[in-house]
Amino acid sequence: MKFLLKKQEFLKMQKFNLMLVVLLCCLVSLCSGSVSYDHKAIAINGQRKILISGSIHYPRSTPEMWPDLIQKAKEGGLDVIQTYVFWNGHEPQPGQYYFEDRYDLVKFIKLIKQAGLYAHLRIGPYACAEWNFGGFPVWLKYVPGISFRTDNGPFKAAMEKFTRHIVNMMKANGLYETQGGPIILSQIENEYGPLEYELGAPARAYTKWAAQMAVGLGTGVPWVMCKQDDAPDPVINTCNGFYCDYFTPNKNFKPKMWTEAWTGWFTEFGGAVPYRPAEDLAYSVAKFIQSGGSFINYYMYHGGTNFGRTAGGPFIATSYDYDAPLDEYGLKREAKWGHLKDLHRAIKLCEPALVNGDPSVVTLGNYQTAYVYKYKAGGCAAFLSNNNRAAYATVNFRGQRYNIPPWSISILPDCKNTVYNTARVGAQTSLMKMTSEGGGFSWQSYNDQTESYDDNSYTTVGLLEQLNVTRDSSDYLWYMTDVKVGSNEGFLKSGKWPTLTVMSAGHALHVFINGQLSGTVYGSQANPKITFNKPVNLRPGVNKISLLSIAVGLPNIGPHFETWNAGVLGPVTLYGLNEGKRDLTWQKWSYKVGLKGEILSLHSLMGSSSVEWIQGSYVAQKQPLTWYKTIFNAPGGNEPLALDMSSMGKGQIWINGQSIGRYWPAYKARGSCSTCSYAGYFDEKKCLSKCGESSQKWYHVPRSWLKPRGNLLVVFEELGGIPYGISMVKRSVYSVCADIYEWQPSLMNYEMQASGKAAKPLRPKAHLSCSAGQKITSIKFASFGTPLGGCGSYSEGSCHAHHSYDAFNKYCIGQQSCTVPVTPEAFGGDPCPKVMKKLSVEAICS
Ligand code: GAL
Repeated sequence: MKFLLKKQEFLKMQKFNLMLVVLLCCLVSLCSGSVSYDHKAIAINGQRKILISGSIHYPRSTPEMWPDLIQKAKEGGLDVIQTYVFWNGHEPQPGQYYFEDRYDLVKFIKLIKQAGLYAHLRIGPYACAEWNFGGFPVWLKYVPGISFRTDNGPFKAAMEKFTRHIVNMMKANGLYETQGGPIILSQIENEYGPLEYELGAPARAYTKWAAQMAVGLGTGVPWVMCKQDDAPDPVINTCNGFYCDYFTPNKNFKPKMWTEAWTGWFTEFGGAVPYRPAEDLAYSVAKFIQSGGSFINYYMYHGGTNFGRTAGGPFIATSYDYDAPLDEYGLKREAKWGHLKDLHRAIKLCEPALVNGDPSVVTLGNYQTAYVYKYKAGGCAAFLSNNNRAAYATVNFRGQRYNIPPWSISILPDCKNTVYNTARVGAQTSLMKMTSEGGGFSWQSYNDQTESYDDNSYTTVGLLEQLNVTRDSSDYLWYMTDVKVGSNEGFLKSGKWPTLTVMSAGHALHVFINGQLSGTVYGSQANPKITFNKPVNLRPGVNKISLLSIAVGLPNIGPHFETWNAGVLGPVTLYGLNEGKRDLTWQKWSYKVGLKGEILSLHSLMGSSSVEWIQGSYVAQKQPLTWYKTIFNAPGGNEPLALDMSSMGKGQIWINGQSIGRYWPAYKARGSCSTCSYAGYFDEKKCLSKCGESSQKWYHVPRSWLKPRGNLLVVFEELGGIPYGISMVKRSVYSVCADIYEWQPSLMNYEMQASGKAAKPLRPKAHLSCSAGQKITSIKFASFGTPLGGCGSYSEGSCHAHHSYDAFNKYCIGQQSCTVPVTPEAFGGDPCPKVMKKLSVEAICS
């Protein structure tokens, strides 16, 4: 008994001692970290870091996707995940907060922590981000006396209240680094500098206020303001852009940070789909790091999907793929993902030198420069750059010769061995396929109404601004009026119909005359204002003119959101009557917010069973304003899913009541899509795809929204489409390619030598890897020599080793992945000595 007691006492004491240690630990901030910064870098627990970050916006994927996305970001070499906070998602009505499901911010941040990564929280609360109304709740527009993003009492009060709410929530959950959480940085406002320049004194006062307000919240971690040259101390001003090497922060004690390195660009309906070559992205990042940058965030690392009506605009597409390293569906976009992963490893090998001080810059040629960073221990790391967009360069550096491809940077962590070059992609390239599940859907249809003066409509004199009426509860607003036509009208005899002219502030408009669709007009992102101007078929007596005005996402960028308009503001005029011109602007108009089907909630299980649907051979086709529904079972497997909507016009899609978003395959992409080279300055118009095709034909269906059987799919079509053309497709890897030069620098080679595992430089290797569950079934192309073209379109060049296929046939067929060394011997000998050779290979995965 005595012994037992003693043991318990001993254990108690031990526990107490442990607690004491923990407490002391925390006091000297070893347990909960500290985040500080200086000229060189952000320092965590006093240690300067080169931080690689990537944007993943939590509501643009599902909570079920988050762990995998974060894991793939970590695997890709990221240290930090950056996200905006989406105010209009979190406070849909004043004071009513929502933090569930895709808006479960705390869960998202905790998952980042679990993965061992840091978080950068851009509270804003203005986001921009191609997000509806830039993230502002639309109700804010109607707060009396409000003026957005300037020195305005009501705006500042609302902004502070929401920012405080988020900060308190993060604190309550212990999510700041100083509390042991993952958040190391925050952002207030977003790219306000250019606006401040435009707006003058009140804007400058607002900037000061925003900084003070944020810092006053005592998060314990630094704040940044991006694109804000006059960010007040201690807030760090940071750079956004395609390149940021030229950037210098406004004080010497602040680090050089790049908060948005654009990995591609967003797609708008009617626009071509932009992409950014991985070689140029890697070059821009290496250029930033070599010139002293220590924090870089990829915007976007995973772009995801603008579900529901969250797309901004106007005209922002539902896909926010962004050509990011992880594609819209969360799959690795190869070679971009892999090429950046290699870049991050190369940069991390240089980290001790990079954070140690500023570089010495050595000119090696007209366009060639070396940036040399010294270690404390006497060693050094170097970046050798060739800014010439057209020509290779051979340079001498510390007594050795280096060959640098055009528009590229080589990284030498020991000032000797090249481990990485931004224009030499060692990672494999993947081509994706979308395979139809076969077996179409069996549809039922329901016609919405063009005319309906009912409980939901009201009448007034004149034309009303659309947002003021809808408060953005729907894309749709009906403007309805009557036009009396006398039987003595001349056009009734001449057959020359009167012309109706409707001026609208945007964004799209369907004009119905006596229930018949008479025409459709829509704008573009650059030019949302529209005019309908067309002869219309009127008859003697009362004619019903019904204008369906449609908002396609609210603008997300600019000042004074309170002044923005949408809808039919007029004038509305009829020309060609006996009286000449008749102005309809100031007559009586009736209004109805939303479609009948929306009011009936046809998208939901309950709502959809409240009306009679047409079935079988009577199902409407090519009919405007039609609802469709069907029940389907979830496709097997775990590949991501999408709906191919090419046979449809414009509308919205719901699955089990959840909104997939707007679709608009009828809007074909403008522009010319000529081939683009990675070399030379990139901008969002340089590299385009899908010209002349639908800007977006596939619409992501998150797997987690499906149950195994009996899913309800509802589609609302505005223009008229063929529902039987809709199909469910699975996304998977079609083929994998590698392009590897003889003697191409390789990280693995360097690491093997550094660790003593290899005595002399090794030949590079081609790695091919299909997705889990797939196998390599055939080799579509292989050539060691001087092959031409790219993945999917290779051809043999003048030099070709005749046994190029052999090694791949032997080591790869039937395997999920394989590795083949790029040596002449592997391909039956050197086919053309003294010529610089490369291997190109494409393997089919199934
Ligand atoms: C930036 C803005 C981001 C996003 C981006 C374009 O200027 O800060 O939120 O809109 O442009 O994708």
